[in-house]
Amino acid sequence: MIKVATFALACFVAVSAGSVKLQTPTEELVMKQPATAPEDQVYHHTRGSEFYHPKGHTKHEDYHSHLPQEYTEKHELPTNFNWGNINGRSMLTKPLNQHIPQYCGSCWAHGAMSSFADRIKIARDAKGSDINLAIQFILNCGTDVAGSCHGGSHTGAYNFVKNYAKHIPYDTCLQYEACSAESTEGTCKDRDFTCTGANTCRTCSTFTAYGGFCSEVDRYPNATIAEYGNVVGEYNMMAEIYRRGPIACGIDASPVDNYKGGIVDNTSAKSINHIISVVGWGVDKKTDTPYWIVRNSWGEYWGEMGYFRVKRGENQLAIESSCAWATPGTWTEMNFPCYEDGSNCVSHKKYEDPSKKYHKDE
Ligand SMILES: *[C@@H]1O[C@H](CO)[C@@H](O)[C@H](O)[C@H]1NC(C)=O
Ligand SMILES: *[C@@H]1O[C@H](CO)[C@@H](O)[C@H](O)[C@H]1NC(C)=O
Repeated sequence: MIKVATFALACFVAVSAGSVKLQTPTEELVMKQPATAPEDQVYHHTRGSEFYHPKGHTKHEDYHSHLPQEYTEKHELPTNFNWGNINGRSMLTKPLNQHIPQYCGSCWAHGAMSSFADRIKIARDAKGSDINLAIQFILNCGTDVAGSCHGGSHTGAYNFVKNYAKHIPYDTCLQYEACSAESTEGTCKDRDFTCTGANTCRTCSTFTAYGGFCSEVDRYPNATIAEYGNVVGEYNMMAEIYRRGPIACGIDASPVDNYKGGIVDNTSAKSINHIISVVGWGVDKKTDTPYWIVRNSWGEYWGEMGYFRVKRGENQLAIESSCAWATPGTWTEMNFPCYEDGSNCVSHKKYEDPSKKYHKDE
């Protein structure tokens, strides 16, 4: 019974996907993916699993700029720092829930993309509507490099967005559905989550009873990644967060499954099975305990409105051992105005053989 409950909250941070060739979503459709996950992908990645990267994820960092840890002295770091409260303003994007409408082990995409979206918000000084990114796009198109509902990695997500897709749509293009092509959970069953145009960005014109249809949209607001890399260790992480924004880190989530608030102090971590986003730090006034401020992706009914705090400086939960960062390249501030049915934004017209129209088989 306990086993099942633990499993249900686990986020697989792992996976070795098949050897399917990747397409950029600007190319024409159809990335064939296995109907079910390879066995090694599904069954071996329960709690306590090792941290694995998908086979297609070969570039674990890609940057040339100097790192904050190279130009930030310890004494420059404040005692308390939280991107959720910069002079009373939050520089963070909305909390997320990876587990609805059904269970999906996509923590790696949530941790990676929410901390990246925060950095876009920081770069915009929180002006305008928040830019939230389409995590479902990574699940549809990035399986081999980034991961799926059966696990993945934070640097894999950055590798995919920077070097393969070369962009990521905003989430008003593509809703999070907690599905990837190999998942048969809940609403995922028998539906198409392959990398098609409509699974990159779409619109629907009206009810089908009135002749409505859903169409891909090929011109849409999107963001790009300039650089990405790894960061480990308390002070390096603090310098990175302070200078450039939140980061995505691996943890052993077992000690926080039933978290009820406060500062976690638990040295039982074994191995990384979950990815979250670290958005700041502090020191508890009463106990003098240093802690991290962490955003999870299990909804706001979990933890402290979706966040938790954990003791800092002891690599608890393994939180100081595998973090990743990405910096924004470009993002859309002014869209190309698409019609409601998307018809003026479709560039990938598919050839329709005339036989379809004139030759009736039946
Ligand atoms: C991404 O956004 C840029 C502008 O920010 C635009 O020029 C480009 O066409 C967009 N890409 C797609 C695939 O729509
Ligand atoms: C630490 O977490 C483990 C679960 O990984 C739990 O069994 C244990 O009771 C926790 N210890 C403390 C001191 O809370």
